[in-house]
Amino acid sequence: MGIFMRKRIVLCVLFAALLLTGCGKSKEEPGNAKLVLGFSQIGSESAWRIGNTKDIEEQAEAYGIGLMLENANQKQENQIAAIRRFIAYQVDVIAFSPVVEEGWDNVLKEAKDAGIPVILVDRDINTEQEGLTTCLIGADFYKEGVMAAEYLIRKADRLGLEQVNIVEITGTENSTPMRQRQAGFMDTIAADSRMCVLESIDGDFLKSRGEECMRYYLEKYGDTIDVVFSHNDEMTIGALPEIENAGLAPGKDIIIISIDGGQEAINVLKEGKINCVVECTPKLGRELMETALKLKNGEQVETVIHPKEQVFSDEIDVSQIGPRGY
Ligand code: AHR
Repeated sequence: MGIFMRKRIVLCVLFAALLLTGCGKSKEEPGNAKLVLGFSQIGSESAWRIGNTKDIEEQAEAYGIGLMLENANQKQENQIAAIRRFIAYQVDVIAFSPVVEEGWDNVLKEAKDAGIPVILVDRDINTEQEGLTTCLIGADFYKEGVMAAEYLIRKADRLGLEQVNIVEITGTENSTPMRQRQAGFMDTIAADSRMCVLESIDGDFLKSRGEECMRYYLEKYGDTIDVVFSHNDEMTIGALPEIENAGLAPGKDIIIISIDGGQEAINVLKEGKINCVVECTPKLGRELMETALKLKNGEQVETVIHPKEQVFSDEIDVSQIGPRGY
């Protein structure tokens, strides 16, 4: 029996075991699939993440790719264990969205030694060793932070503000979107002497943390807050009722800037309670499947693939924004 055949049998048995235990998910049997892709998802912390998982599942099916999907429930150790399982199953390509940037070297060396190419989806890693991953498919988070700040500068000009007190609710500490969105935003406001960041707190991309952070900010700074810069829609949606409970009107008394562009936040933008939403698209599945197929065929791939993104704000006719799909 050839090595390829043995690999397929091992995959089929282990894949069936995964499906029985409910850990994996695929409509495409690995034995019939063009390739088998192991994907470790961070979790289900936001509408963005749920939309991203759905898109990857749909695109795997459309491309006839066998998908072994594992949800890490926000824990890096679960992602490392999932990657080790993908290596043991001898999948053709591994992809993962790293919850944080550091701590991946050992497991990625194991994937490299096993000859399995690795694709980073959505977020980047920080590693001292070159060549552990093939490419990154995900948003330009730095640019998102820049676009959020540029909107704020234009808004402050329009309102004729002389001082702008900002509170920031950041995404998960040490994650790429947290680091890059903050850097892009801070670098862009640095030259504007009106801008004053009162404080930044980790909201972990969670609605519940958005609520808690906003409650704390309102107790500490009260109505001196001019702007909330929140790193995702989930935390923004959590923060808004806290502002209203404090007797302030979000979108009027406090400028609200969010990132993602999911349906719920766009609805609230249309109501005037959010002023600006910078888009971050979760629809990365098509690029992921195309790239995985190229790697399987030994073709070159681009090292960084950023989707095109836009800004939705009170500067445009928001009634024209169509359904978002996540
Ligand atoms: O990495 C992308 C970020 O992660 C999205 O902005 C956020 O909503 C998600 O949880």
